[in-house]
Amino acid sequence: MLFRGQDTSESLFPEDSSMRTQVAILGAGPAGLLLSQLLSLHRIESIVLEKKSRSYVESRIRAGVLEHGTAQLLCDAGVGERMKKEGLRHEGINLGFSGQLHRVNLSELTQGKAVTVYGQHEVLKDLIAARLRDGGQILFEVDAVSVDALLTKEPCVRFRYQGENLELRSDWLAGCDGFHGVCRPSIPPEALKVFEKTYPFGWLGILAEAAPSWDELIYAYHQDGFALFSMRSPTVTRLYLQCDPDEDLSKWPDERIWENLERRLSFVGPKKVRRGKVLQKGVTSMRSFVVEPMRHGRLFLAGDAAHIVPPTGAKGMNLAVGDVWFLARALDFFYSQGRTDLLESYSENCLRRVWKTQRFSWWMTTMMHRFERHDEFEHRRQLAELDYVTGSVAASTALAENYVGLPWAG
Ligand code: FAD
Ligand code: DHB
Repeated sequence: MLFRGQDTSESLFPEDSSMRTQVAILGAGPAGLLLSQLLSLHRIESIVLEKKSRSYVESRIRAGVLEHGTAQLLCDAGVGERMKKEGLRHEGINLGFSGQLHRVNLSELTQGKAVTVYGQHEVLKDLIAARLRDGGQILFEVDAVSVDALLTKEPCVRFRYQGENLELRSDWLAGCDGFHGVCRPSIPPEALKVFEKTYPFGWLGILAEAAPSWDELIYAYHQDGFALFSMRSPTVTRLYLQCDPDEDLSKWPDERIWENLERRLSFVGPKKVRRGKVLQKGVTSMRSFVVEPMRHGRLFLAGDAAHIVPPTGAKGMNLAVGDVWFLARALDFFYSQGRTDLLESYSENCLRRVWKTQRFSWWMTTMMHRFERHDEFEHRRQLAELDYVTGSVAASTALAENYVGLPWAG
């Protein structure tokens, strides 16, 4: 039975508790929602199942920097209007070290490209609004989700929704359910190869009601540890401090956070970090993680379900967007021309870009953070690296082209 309608209306449910669609999508994060939107532009039917509530998804503070191609794709997908109005175009970033600030002119080094500062949750609000306006189906607050029959022509998702046990059958299944989702663990371990690296530090992040003190992002290397100055809007600042991976937030009252930020960012110039009410506070651990392949039978993994990057360089959401660009194109070729070649090469195509982006995120992370506090060789090496990156056109071009985003194909 083909099943159509609005997001949570009960009248949508067929009496036999079994539904069918072309592509079942698990997870309403950037990967799942953008995939659903791109598929609808190709007239391919999908249903998105999400564990959390709509309000939770729309308010979860995460990524904030959109690569050039990500911003372009959101516009092409018909969900870029608000981003174009409210997003902040940044044509440069700054690296601070040894008491000085060095600007990397992204646009000049990449033939006019730039990044857009626009919160991930704002992207999700725009995608959810667009999907529901166009009759798309997103079921929030689904529970007890499991996937099955992945090696058959009709994979199946079982879940609970509004007290009922339901079953969704489809041609294809997109595992966009993030790092802690059910899709990746449903693949037999012997069918996957896992690559993983953890880092001996994390990020303590705050969101504050304060006008940004600087116009552009600042990545600061300091003897006390890394600090990042970022923003979300002309009235909201986003700041991060290197901390222990299992840092206890209760030991970080607001005053201690501001003092550390001021110290680690003090050398960047006469301006001080503007303080404001702390709206949100959290600790993120850091890891690099990839599984290969990103496909098992009729299940395709996309985004954080398949890979995680450390946040330095702002690549996680952008990688998720790149994956679903490949997947939407491959599914379009399948439904419109009966071609399976792009589905067959999905994993290989994604992984080529994923590994290059892993390399970049690892490189930014190892350049900007303090590792062993007393390892003076490492300290001198990092300073030399920063000096080289900011002093050489070739090296700053390599940074810039990765930062604004590598091309999706080729
Ligand atoms: P997610 O956003 O994790 O979405 C997965 C969804 O699946 C979730 O909504 C989850 O609730 C749902 N789900 C889970 N299990 C199930 C289930 N069983 N059934 C149904 N649904 C399920 N990236 C950038 O590009 N730029 C940045 O500036 C940046 N900054 C970051 C800062 C922080 C502090 C953090 C934590 C991350 C940051 N990232 C950044 C990373 C980025 O947020 C993620 O890479 C991105 O959210 C991945 O999108 P996704 O759709 O793959 O997964
Ligand atoms: C932000 C996060 C990042 O990981 C980064 O490299 C730059 C900015 C942010 O949340 O604004």
